[in-house]
Order: sequence, then C-alpha cells, then structure tokens
Amino acid sequence: MGRVYNFSAGPAALPVAVLERARDEMLDYQGSGMSVMEMSHRSKKYLGIIQHAEAMLRSLMGISDDYEVLFQQGGATLQFAMVPMNLIVDPKGETADFILTGSWSKKAMKEAKKFFAQTRVAASTEEVQFTRIPLQDELRLNPDAVYVHMTSNNTIYGTEFHYTPDTGKVPLVADMSSNVLSRVVDVNRFGLIYAGAQKNLGPSGVTVVIIRKDLMGRNANLPLMLDYKAQAAEQSMLNTPPTYAIYILGLVLDWVKDQGGVLGIEQRNVRQAKRLYEVIDRTGFYHCPNQPDSRSRMNVPFTLKKPELTDTFLAESTKAGLVTLKGHRSVGGMRASLYNAMPDEGVEALVSFMIDFERRYG
Ligand SMILES: Cc1ncc(COP(=O)(O)O)c(C=O)c1O
Repeated sequence: MGRVYNFSAGPAALPVAVLERARDEMLDYQGSGMSVMEMSHRSKKYLGIIQHAEAMLRSLMGISDDYEVLFQQGGATLQFAMVPMNLIVDPKGETADFILTGSWSKKAMKEAKKFFAQTRVAASTEEVQFTRIPLQDELRLNPDAVYVHMTSNNTIYGTEFHYTPDTGKVPLVADMSSNVLSRVVDVNRFGLIYAGAQKNLGPSGVTVVIIRKDLMGRNANLPLMLDYKAQAAEQSMLNTPPTYAIYILGLVLDWVKDQGGVLGIEQRNVRQAKRLYEVIDRTGFYHCPNQPDSRSRMNVPFTLKKPELTDTFLAESTKAGLVTLKGHRSVGGMRASLYNAMPDEGVEALVSFMIDFERRYG
C-alpha cells in the first residue's frame, strides 16, 4: 500500500488505526446493516456515536459540567464571528482584547470588528514577523473587556503559547485549531475553546466548541444556528450535524486514549519536535526564524541557507514519500506539521532525509 508520511498543515494525516477501523465498519456499522453515513442522526445507534464522542472529549480533556461541548459547522472561521455575536451584549459600549500572534489571530480580530465598535490589541509580535509569543507581562489587558482572544498555536508562523495567559476575571477565548489535544491544558482557565477538527481531531466539517455555561444566552436575537445556547439545548442537533465527521472524531478520541491519553500524546510531541529542531539548528544549513521558547511542536517552519535549493528539497522529499512539506505562501521555505497522528517513523524518515540532503548539497 502506498501510504506516505503526510506533513500537511490541515486537513492532515489521521492515525492508520482509525482509518482501518472506519474501513472495517464502512458497510455495516455494528450490525446496523448500513454505513454511519447512511444513518439517521436521530437513530439510537447514531445518538450512541455522538454521545460517545462528547464523553471521550470530556474525559480526555477533563472538561467539567460547568462547560458545554458543542459540535458545530462552519469551521474555526465561523467561530471568529460567533464568539463576538454571542458574548457581546452592548456593541457600542463593550470591547474585547486580542493577542496578535499571526495571521489567524488577525483574521479573528478583523471578523470581530464587524460586531462592535472597538477591538483592542492587548499585545502583538507583528513587528518581529510573529517569530515569538508575547510574555505574560507584555499583555496590556483591559479589565473591562468582554473577553480576551488568543490563538494557542500559530499554524502558519509555527509558534505556540507554552503558557496559559492569566486574564483575571475576563474570560479567555482560545482558537486551539492546530494544537488541541496535543498537550495537557486546564480547561477551567478558559471561557471558551474552539477548534476546527481537521488537524488533531478528525476530518474537516466539524468544529469543537467548549464553552463555560454562564457565557451562553447573553444575546436573545441570534439566528438559531449561530446561537450557542440554542445549539446546546439541542445537543448540537438543531439540524443535521456532520454525522460522519463526528463519528471519525470519536474514533480519533478512542485512539488518543490508547496512546496514553493527552499526556502520552504530549510526551511524543515533545520528543518529535525536539528531534526535528535539533537537526534544523545543527549546522546552519537549515534555519528556523522563531525564538526557541516560542517554537511550535505542531508546525515546524524552516528555510534553507541556500534558498535556490528549496524546489530541489521539495521535489526530492516528495519522491522519498515525505509529502506536503511546502511552507505557507506567506512564509516560504518548508513547513513540517507534526500533528498527533504523525508516527515517530515519519519524523525519523524526515530527519534522515534532511541529514542526507545536507550531506549532498551542503
Ligand atoms: C489556528 C487556525 N485557526 C483557524 C483556522 C481556520 O479554520 P477553518 O478552515 O476550519 O475555518 C485555521 C486553519 O488552518 C487555523 O490553523
């Protein structure tokens, strides 16, 4: 079988064990005589699937009953708008704080600006091309803000928060699309967490929202589909949910449990990222612009000292079965995404290729 090591930033590689289980259950899901794709979302079997996915997420992340877990559509991008729509009651008087650490946080702020008069930048590292994460004491937080928004991992620039900002009484809202479930986090530190599934959780089409219950229901006049309270009241089944994506999400969560839970996954991610950064930093042939204490374990961008070799690197690595390594167009060079499903063998194969490439062209 021609499986490659896929370093895509998303949609990204899924665990082979998950794909195999989905294959085995494809035509006849647990004696139902049909595929999950063909099943009514109101059926008993399907209710079992969605409830299992929620229970697994709650157990793996330690989510208490103070929070709702929602399975939404529209990607993380819709959350850029849903968060301000739901959290802001007085669009003229209220404001929110944004920590700008890359393209996605800028997009989140731009979208939020449509819903209230002002947004504040609590910190930005744009002047250093987003090569680092601001420290806690650099955050200029407004104690009257309705929320503080952060992007916990910057998929494009390859930086990551290695601490949870302290925002006092102001709810912290985090876009965790590209590092959810990759490390242990204390959910109680957040007012709201959202994540598109297509990196660490499953296929695209479903977005997980974890919201503290007291933050729901502030705004009575929202369209139902965009109202967290209405979605929660119907257990994310206000309309037909993305049934198959939620099913695969459940299988991915079973797999995470089998890997020793989030802690087991985190230890592997730490090891894999360390291995790759060591090879990048070894001689100067490769270069990662990001400050070491801000580097992402999930998305590792790097360039070549001889940029004219970039196309050769990409062509030869693809030939070696190491695919989707091209960097984002705004950064250039290469980007290796090491999401949860990346096996150690994939990282070893990449590292061996890089050492050999350097030996031949360095
Ligand atoms: C951090 C982050 N936020 C938001 C998005 C947008 O997600 P979606 O395509 O699900 O709207 C992405 C996509 O790559 C991302 O990496």
